[in-house]
Amino acid sequence: MADALRIGIAGLGTVGAALIKVLQTRSELLTVSCGRAIDVVAVSARDRSRDRGFDASDFQWFDDATELARTADIDVFVELMGGNGDPAYSSVKAALSRGLHVVTANKALLARHGVELAGLAEQNGAILNFEAAVAGGIPVIKALRESLTGNTVNRVYGIMNGTCNYILTRMEKEGLTFEACLKEAQRLGYAEADPAFDIEGNDTAHKLSILTTLAFGTQIAADDIYLEGITNISLDDILAAADLGYRIKLLGVAQKTASGIEQRVHPTMVPQDSVIAQVDGVTNAVAIESDVLGELLMVGPGAGGNATASAVMGDIADIAKSHPGAQLVPSLGRPAKQLAPYKRGEIQSHEGGYFIRLTVEDRTGVFASVATRMAENSISLESIVQRPKKHDDKAERQTIILVTHATTEQSVRRAVGAIKTEGYLIGEPQVIRIERPKAA
Ligand code: HSE
Repeated sequence: MADALRIGIAGLGTVGAALIKVLQTRSELLTVSCGRAIDVVAVSARDRSRDRGFDASDFQWFDDATELARTADIDVFVELMGGNGDPAYSSVKAALSRGLHVVTANKALLARHGVELAGLAEQNGAILNFEAAVAGGIPVIKALRESLTGNTVNRVYGIMNGTCNYILTRMEKEGLTFEACLKEAQRLGYAEADPAFDIEGNDTAHKLSILTTLAFGTQIAADDIYLEGITNISLDDILAAADLGYRIKLLGVAQKTASGIEQRVHPTMVPQDSVIAQVDGVTNAVAIESDVLGELLMVGPGAGGNATASAVMGDIADIAKSHPGAQLVPSLGRPAKQLAPYKRGEIQSHEGGYFIRLTVEDRTGVFASVATRMAENSISLESIVQRPKKHDDKAERQTIILVTHATTEQSVRRAVGAIKTEGYLIGEPQVIRIERPKAA
């Protein structure tokens, strides 16, 4: 049997602690599958004394993750600290520069430095694996990087943030407040250290930028993403969506358009009878539409210790099974130098359906004026309904809800802009894009 694979783990939070436990409890199974043992030999974390449910004195301890990466007697450096700066960045660079293989769950790091790190791995004959960085335990990186080789991808989209999906689901099903749901997601270990990254959409954007590169063979362009989080979504929106046959999900979408590759993250209405609409709680889903295969939809646990640890364990096992000297699979699907420049598709030219919710004064002509502004901008309506606003003691207010057929972002912005000048609007209009799965 080959020598054991020696690993060093930096970061012993929810994921790091779960990884050590799964590696310990599955050591025999892993040894049989990989043809060699996997031994954790070194660890690093901020607080040595914290009780994590295992004995940290079994491993060589490093206070400094970069020191571990630079000096520990290991084959694989596992980075589970998070964040796009140091120590994650410096430690991963130190490990790759030494020719160590690296496994990371760090989407923020890859979104910022992924191309550089993939190039460094290639120069040093090292493997850089990051399955856990996108959609938790769903093997979407491997699917795009390896299984779909030769396909041309047209669109990739999905629910990629467990915290947001958990919040939206519990708000809808149990009528709980946004804040209560977020607290629970934090308690369950789903949320980022700073949950603003979840609810404002940045975490989904980081993940989407990685999928875009793998799907379209372009440079990572995490700053070129149209971004809206879920903080603006109210129970009123969720209930109105349900009334009209839709559910609201935070989606990340990347698709080829005439002007370039459109990358966008925003709350999205999906038809209630689509599979993605049924994806609840912390579960994630990623759909990939490509020419040879057609539509692939992968659904699974998206956040939390075990979901993430499972993906990290798979990445480590891949390294254990790799043959020294064999040609390596490029981390980003093609050699870093062959990634094409990214050309942004502008959100203004986005085409699709829209949900628009307006709170208006209840007076003659308002409904007709809204319909006219839509028609003036060539927007065809699927439905338009007017309802007394619930829980409102000011009886003269009404809610108008419109669902449009496919139109452009520019037309919707113009129509809403015109409505805003009419003087009957109360508060800000709510505009939510509709996304339809291919078959729906
Ligand atoms: N905070 C992330 C989420 C963790 O909620 O999906 C997994 O990347």
